[in-house]
Amino acid sequence: MKFFVDTADVDAIAELNELGMVDGVTTNPSLIMKSGRDILEVTKEIAGMVDGPVSAEVIATDADAMIAEGRKLAKIADNIAVKVPLTWDGLKACKVLSGEGNMVNVTLCFSANQALLAAKAGGTFISPFIGRLDDINLDGMELIADIRQIYDNYGYETQILAASIRTVNHAFQSAQIGADVMTAPPAVIKAMAKHVLTDKGLEAFLKDAETAGIKIV
Ligand code: G3P
Repeated sequence: MKFFVDTADVDAIAELNELGMVDGVTTNPSLIMKSGRDILEVTKEIAGMVDGPVSAEVIATDADAMIAEGRKLAKIADNIAVKVPLTWDGLKACKVLSGEGNMVNVTLCFSANQALLAAKAGGTFISPFIGRLDDINLDGMELIADIRQIYDNYGYETQILAASIRTVNHAFQSAQIGADVMTAPPAVIKAMAKHVLTDKGLEAFLKDAETAGIKIV
């Protein structure tokens, strides 16, 4: 499974990147706002740090303006994936931008039918938002499973990018269902390393090492 990091915080990306945990990065206008930086400048820096796709999102809402913004974003670096919202105009922009050879990430997906349209429009990635469905008492994981089944039924190559991941359980279940990629905040990726029995076991081992006077270097 590929791991994308859902942040525009370059320090957090660098830390995970050193461990080989970063196959790509996703950003959105809210994450750019949080970084406090200029979108073009921070996106360029991120794209230079990682080899994989870096999603940068358009802010226009009509297709022609999205296409113009997408072309500008795509010029930042070869590994930019232009992110467009899953609206009718977003699908039009997806078709044109992907036809020009750009990676396109179709975002704000909340239904399997939307995901089917994104695949037909040539999307490189489809981003179903798990956490936001859970927020309204729907099952985000069911959506991932439905899209997996539909894409596999017809051999669509659009990659399922499980997004709006808020918990380690979201990460585990996305992997179990077979999402191609998950994008998660750095804190969720780091939390995946945690287990109470690991901490407890380590504490006991260290106590015994001290009692036995074990020294290695
Ligand atoms: O990947 C999309 C993500 O940034 C949205 O996450 O937690 O704002 O729903 P969230």
